[in-house]
Amino acid sequence: MWAELADVGRNPATGGYRRFAWTRADHDLREWFTAAAVSRGLDVTVDRCGNQWAWWGEPDTVPGVVTGSHLDSVPDGGAFDGPLGVVSAFAAVDALRDKGFMPARPLGVVNFCDEEGARFGIACAGSRLLTGALAPERALALSDVDGVTMAGALATAGRSTDIGRDEQALRRVATFVELHVEQGRGLVELDAPVAVASAIWPHGRYRAELPGQANHAGTTRLEDRVDPTLAYARLILAARRSAQTHGAVATCGKVRFAPNGVNAIPSLVTAWVDVRAPAGDDARAVIAELAALSEQAGGTFTEESLTGATTFDTELRRRLAAALGEPPVLATGAGHDAGILAAAGFPAGMLFVRNPTGVSHSPAEFAERDDCLAGVTALAAVLADLTRTPE
Ligand code: GLV
Ligand code: MN
Ligand code: MN
Repeated sequence: MWAELADVGRNPATGGYRRFAWTRADHDLREWFTAAAVSRGLDVTVDRCGNQWAWWGEPDTVPGVVTGSHLDSVPDGGAFDGPLGVVSAFAAVDALRDKGFMPARPLGVVNFCDEEGARFGIACAGSRLLTGALAPERALALSDVDGVTMAGALATAGRSTDIGRDEQALRRVATFVELHVEQGRGLVELDAPVAVASAIWPHGRYRAELPGQANHAGTTRLEDRVDPTLAYARLILAARRSAQTHGAVATCGKVRFAPNGVNAIPSLVTAWVDVRAPAGDDARAVIAELAALSEQAGGTFTEESLTGATTFDTELRRRLAAALGEPPVLATGAGHDAGILAAAGFPAGMLFVRNPTGVSHSPAEFAERDDCLAGVTALAAVLADLTRTPE
């Protein structure tokens, strides 16, 4: 499976992946998902929002146990963030079948679409739409860097724009367990291949618009300039300082200068800021400082998405830990569809697989083959435990 995915959406210049929602690469990944499911005799359904589900057993009998993750990526992302969870899900199904295991309730594998929000800006768009956490009108109007709206992208991909909360798809889910590559050094430091997740930090994405006055780079005296790059520089430094003060992290990873000419003072800087912290109050304190700074510069600071803290279901966590012989427990600053399902009231949990580089959202993201196999073994054990009885 890994070899089949290796070239899809790969940027040869960096070795990273560009697998954005509703693009050619995404289409190829979706076809791969369908083929992987069909070759295993699993029934494929697609919900209103485009999330793909592969079912072992009849999903409309009793609510099932679902595993999986996403196949899309950030710009020049790694191979593992998302795909490891989907590949491991199919591999766990294979492992259970090899042992002659028959689940007593439906077992689903899901590919949530547009998890990274790399194209339209909202992370976990597929699971947010599915659960009703993201309004369809808002999603459809989001646009990518080329001005293509989500509505337009869906139409080009041959999909309906009748997206939104899907009751039938949700009724099929009793429990969701997502396996994911670890995105930090937690398991390296603990010297363990697999952990159970305890929590996801609160997380917000903001867009600052800092206006300036376009003018000539050679003839405009420094004192006459209205240069928004200075406000942007102050924003970057404030993000770092404020994050340090409040025990948070803040990232200025994306920016657009208009008109983006080497010999012109920009008329506008549009800058995105990602803020996360173990505690919501700390994240909010950073956000408030950055909003005030943007407003002082005559600009705006707009929330694109805000996700509260996730504390994973205690009983499910206990059960996962027991099935795995009490592995380490980790919280994470990374966002996941499991957090969106948990916020929507579903018992959800996660397993993390060690990443020896500790690097993620980069081609350097990695997991050793043996650790991936340990992840599959762990996931298979958890799925066997959760599907052994019909309730
Ligand atoms: C997704 O991986 C995120 O945490 O931004
Ligand atoms: Mn990611
Ligand atoms: Mn991910």
